Amino acid sequence: MIEKRKLVIVGAGFVGMSAAYSFVNQGGIEEIVLIDIDTEKTKGEAMDLSHGLPYAPQKIEIKAGDYDECKDANIVVITAGLNQKPGQSRLELTVANAKIVKEITENIMKSGFDGVIVVASNPVDIMSYVVSKVSGLPTNRVIGSGTVLDTARLRYLLGEYLQVASKNINAYILGEHGDSSLVPWEHCYVGCKKILDIMKDNNYPIEDLKEIHDKVWKSAYEIIEKKRATYYGIGMALTRIVKAILNDENSILTVSTYLENQYGQDGLYIGVPTIINRNGVKQLLNLDLEKGEQEKLNKSCSIIKDIIKNDIDPIITQK
Ligand code: LAC
Repeated sequence: MIEKRKLVIVGAGFVGMSAAYSFVNQGGIEEIVLIDIDTEKTKGEAMDLSHGLPYAPQKIEIKAGDYDECKDANIVVITAGLNQKPGQSRLELTVANAKIVKEITENIMKSGFDGVIVVASNPVDIMSYVVSKVSGLPTNRVIGSGTVLDTARLRYLLGEYLQVASKNINAYILGEHGDSSLVPWEHCYVGCKKILDIMKDNNYPIEDLKEIHDKVWKSAYEIIEKKRATYYGIGMALTRIVKAILNDENSILTVSTYLENQYGQDGLYIGVPTIINRNGVKQLLNLDLEKGEQEKLNKSCSIIKDIIKNDIDPIITQK
């Protein structure tokens, strides 16, 4: 008897439905339940997606539901909340989305849920902290999408620049899923060759790497200017994270995870290379960062910790 792997997605908007569509086309899940305040739209989404199932790799039960469906779910993905308007930073969504995500988390936990929560709502590092504190789940079982999408953008752009398959590019983005992320270039490889050595051997201008990173953290702003929202990239990033959990992969992903004195930081969620398996976070990978990179990470963390102290903790403790 196949263990029925059940996923609940809270938020049937563009991100939630892109993730659902990605899961359906990639397979590996037997049941998807969609939850959203707009119940009629959610029923329509479930119907629409179900009609594609004859052409999907496996049978999946897809339905609209409510929080009681979380009880026996393996994973709940939270995508609900406001998204960036053109020119707006993710951090500007903090207070409004913290209140939404707090209520959602309370509703999830009332069901008796005891699995892994994956958070995509922005700003995701701060929303992951909210879910962790409100749910009371062990920190390893609350994971943010972190810089998994940023890392994919970096690998895509480096692949184009170096004309190498992006799957052979081992490069990671660390820090905030936002304007203050960083690339530990010392630890970036194409296959088993350092990218910094490839740049040197080919006399490629090192400034090109900074330009590529700038393109990564500016991507969302540019896409939102053009099409009002981003959703396919994050939808596939969420699928990648969920599959690493469901398949007990022990894969390394730069999810937003809880730091307890790693990287000289404590008491916040932020994107670092992390081994992911059926229990969520198995272990963080501590990298020796260059002085400049450590300073950037410290800055990223202090931005987030200030917001947690000033805006978030008062919301979390509010009854
Ligand atoms: C982006 C959203 C998911 O970076 O924050 O596209």
